[in-house]
Amino acid sequence: MTQFPGVDVHSNLTLNHALRGAGIIGLGMAVPERVLTNDDLAKFVETSDEWITSRTGIRQRHVCDPETATSDLAASAALAALADAKLSPQDLDLILCATATGDYLWPSTACVIQHKIGATNAAAFDLSAACSGFCYGLTVAGGLLRTGEMQNILVIGADTLTKQLNWHDRGTCILFGDGAGAAVLTACNPDEGVIASYLGADGSGVESIWMPGGGVRTPLTTENIGAGLNCIQMKGSEVYKFAVRIVPEVIERVLVRAKLQPEDIGLLVMHQANLRIIQAVAERFGIDDERVFVNLHKYGNTSAASIPIALTEAQAEGRLQRGKVIVTVGFGAGLTWGANVLRWNK
Ligand code: UT7
Repeated sequence: MTQFPGVDVHSNLTLNHALRGAGIIGLGMAVPERVLTNDDLAKFVETSDEWITSRTGIRQRHVCDPETATSDLAASAALAALADAKLSPQDLDLILCATATGDYLWPSTACVIQHKIGATNAAAFDLSAACSGFCYGLTVAGGLLRTGEMQNILVIGADTLTKQLNWHDRGTCILFGDGAGAAVLTACNPDEGVIASYLGADGSGVESIWMPGGGVRTPLTTENIGAGLNCIQMKGSEVYKFAVRIVPEVIERVLVRAKLQPEDIGLLVMHQANLRIIQAVAERFGIDDERVFVNLHKYGNTSAASIPIALTEAQAEGRLQRGKVIVTVGFGAGLTWGANVLRWNK
């Protein structure tokens, strides 16, 4: 067997796995300054504050100006998370950016961020799992940290979906906002940090919520843009029913993996898509308001950014204490879903 300098080929990865966990040590977020309220929307699309608030819980969203792209928000969130973690960009081994609205089709937005923040020692790649992206990212980062492959990983969820909206389609344009959230993960005690994860997908639902144009199958020709294929298309009630069905199942499965019960959940941090979905799930598990995080009234649905933004605000509000069980749950386009159980390690 080839011997590589510094690598003990007899080292026991199983032992490493048992010795290391993966925990969040820094959180940060960024949203654009411009705010669009429901009343602002009602000026150019047939809707009302009453309809949007009662059907979704959303009151306003933050919207990028044309010059701002996903990597700009992501880089700000990343620097805030690094400052919170008391690490420098050079300490990072990997930047993993979960996004559906990358700056370019390729190369990855993670590479753009790497250059922006000067993380010269970090590998970088994007992860495409839409609104489930942050949960997918935590799972991948957790695996890499537990094997001993890496020491510090930055997981970012960032999206600027308002750039892909048809502002005449009231079924979608009222829902989404722009933002980025970031988490620095590092190796920790195996009993803390990400103690269980569960991911899934159902590709038969690709067309339930998607942007059909812009890829190699349907390039953005003048004709395709004219047909609106450069904008988000969503079968709202189909996605709603999917979410209400899948989220409780995902929570049950991840709790089994963590050997925990619903009553052990200290804070439920769900993807912020619709207040009715969050309330239905909380009710199903008997989780009172104190143990559910909600901020979608301020930001709308920020896709992959919603969970790390929520975690950042939960930390700022003093709702994350060491030892507390935090459950994150994402669901969205793909269709995809994912959840993590974290025993807070900070
Ligand atoms: O990250 C995951 C992404 N997506 C989601 O999580 C979305 C999940 N789906 C939802 O949140 C809900 O389906 C929506 C909020 C999108 C829609 O709520 P709904 O209660 O399912 O409404 P609906 O689509 O069944 O529409 C009910 C009525 C319709 O009118 P008619 O046909 O009953 O006369 C719509 O045309 O409400 C109308 N409507 C609106 N009215 C005022 C739809 N959108 C609007 C609007 N303002 N913005």
